[in-house]
Amino acid sequence: PRFLVVNGPNINMLGLREPDIYGKEDYRALLDLVERTAQEEGFAATCFQSNHEGDLVDAIQQAYGVYDGIVINPAAYTHTSIAILDALKAVGIPFVEVHISAVEKREGFRQVSYVRQAALHTITGRGIRGYRDALLFLRDFLAKSAA
Ligand code: DQA
Repeated sequence: PRFLVVNGPNINMLGLREPDIYGKEDYRALLDLVERTAQEEGFAATCFQSNHEGDLVDAIQQAYGVYDGIVINPAAYTHTSIAILDALKAVGIPFVEVHISAVEKREGFRQVSYVRQAALHTITGRGIRGYRDALLFLRDFLAKSAA
């Protein structure tokens, strides 16, 4: 299978950014973890990050017919973006929502997720490991639906 890992605004600042909340590992470490997981497990994974909502919508649209699953951390757009939800629904690619931090234990404005209603699964509070878990979840889901 081929997976697309989509990260929203400020995820490129990992490591520098509020390390008490998001951890000390940087975006490069996240890219390495995704690549290592893909190699070990024998699937393909491509990472995309943008600080711009429309670019995230474009990346999701362009995934149609190319990727079998999406792992997405829409970051702050989680809490605001109907456009990202609509793009995910438009392409109909199974996806897992990931948050590095435990959003459910944070501010009230982080309790809303527009994408969650269409997500196969949501992973929060596991740091960058959550992306690996999301990829394995998608892999298992696709294996089950093919059986
Ligand atoms: C985040 C949580 C969001 O509330 C926040 O805006 C982010 C990152 C996370 O991964 O924990 O930028 O999605």
